[in-house]
Amino acid sequence: MSSDMHKDVGKILFTERKIRRRIQEMGTQMAADYKGKNPMMVAVLKGSFVFMADLVRAMDIPCEIEFLGVSSYEGKATTNTGAVRLTKDLNTDIADRHVIVVEDILDSGLTLQYLMGYLKNRQPASMEICTLLDKPERRKAEVYAKYKGFTVPDAFVVGYGLDYDEGYRNLPYIGVLKPEIYE
Ligand code: XMP
Ligand code: MG
Repeated sequence: MSSDMHKDVGKILFTERKIRRRIQEMGTQMAADYKGKNPMMVAVLKGSFVFMADLVRAMDIPCEIEFLGVSSYEGKATTNTGAVRLTKDLNTDIADRHVIVVEDILDSGLTLQYLMGYLKNRQPASMEICTLLDKPERRKAEVYAKYKGFTVPDAFVVGYGLDYDEGYRNLPYIGVLKPEIYE
């Protein structure tokens, strides 16, 4: 990574302002859909931590938050190898709860396919996916996300929680990482 993170971003896809507006829309819709249900928002670490923080504040209804850790590819790899590993389990019982799984990006779908199976075994009352980004071009597993923020092209994106080799998560916008950084 260069000392100036911004220089490593080839193109900004979504500005801070655009992200804020879209999340406000999503939060309004989700608050209406889950009114009176006290949903359990389960964020998938680490990438969705920024999105989760903004999303729950855009939802003007009571809700609870939980975190799950999963690792689908390690370090400098930029594609899912298919081996999904749980690195942090839930601390709360989700049986009979209305669960919303909050993800940063739905790419191959392998991570969410694994997670949905895992969570389903715990018998929630309902379960839906909310993903900030959807990258449909590389889908390998069929996964249905009820709530989607933006569709992105098949490029490696960073910022607003998303990383490359643990960097760039604190960029306030979402952009495409210059290929020479990871090639
Ligand atoms: P899958 O392929 O299982 O991937 O749907 C989901 C996880 O992979 C990460 N991912 C990315 N992270 N930029 C990133 O920073 C990307 O373009 C990207 N594509 C996938 C992400 O952690 C997600 O949870
Ligand atoms: Mg990641």
